[in-house]
Amino acid sequence: MKGLKTIKKKTGMLTNRLLKLCTFQYLYLTAILIFVLPLQSCYYDVIVTDDQSQSTEVSLKNNVLPIFNTTCITCHNGVTALPNLTAGSAYNELISGNYVNITTPENSILIKKIRSGHPYEGALTETEINRLVRWIEEGALDN
Ligand code: HEC
Repeated sequence: MKGLKTIKKKTGMLTNRLLKLCTFQYLYLTAILIFVLPLQSCYYDVIVTDDQSQSTEVSLKNNVLPIFNTTCITCHNGVTALPNLTAGSAYNELISGNYVNITTPENSILIKKIRSGHPYEGALTETEINRLVRWIEEGALDN
């Protein structure tokens, strides 16, 4: 009888230990879930954005013309002698008028003019200007 009690006691102790171990593991897992996973998702976020900025091509039609449409064509619309920046003409005007410099995009007349505060300071956001620069960097394609 005494032996049986010891066994029961020992089994009890073992179960307790196992339970403690399990609880500890749960805590450990929870800690991982709470701290490590969000960090990982941040890491992935950064990678994804980075990838996008590296590999996504800037398109004339989707990224450049909309900027001209919103901010430039009130004046650059073909009615005056100014470079015509409306959808049908902008590309030819920019290329034939040498307004873009593919080797040194920042030296493009188009970019220098905008950076000098044309048509007024803050007319385009830094993001928009960078998009134009990127379009030129990528070869100023009719895309
Ligand atoms: C309020 C009218 C107006 C708006 C809006 C305007 N421009 Fe102009 N732009 C002019 C005038 C006037 C000139 C000629 C005088 C000068 O060079 O500043 C000019 C000149 C330019 C030139 C130089 C042309 C050359 O032959 O040297 C470029 C490039 C240009 N604009 C680009 C743009 C772009 C890009 C936008 C939109 C972000 C824009 N402009 C918005 C009136 C405007």
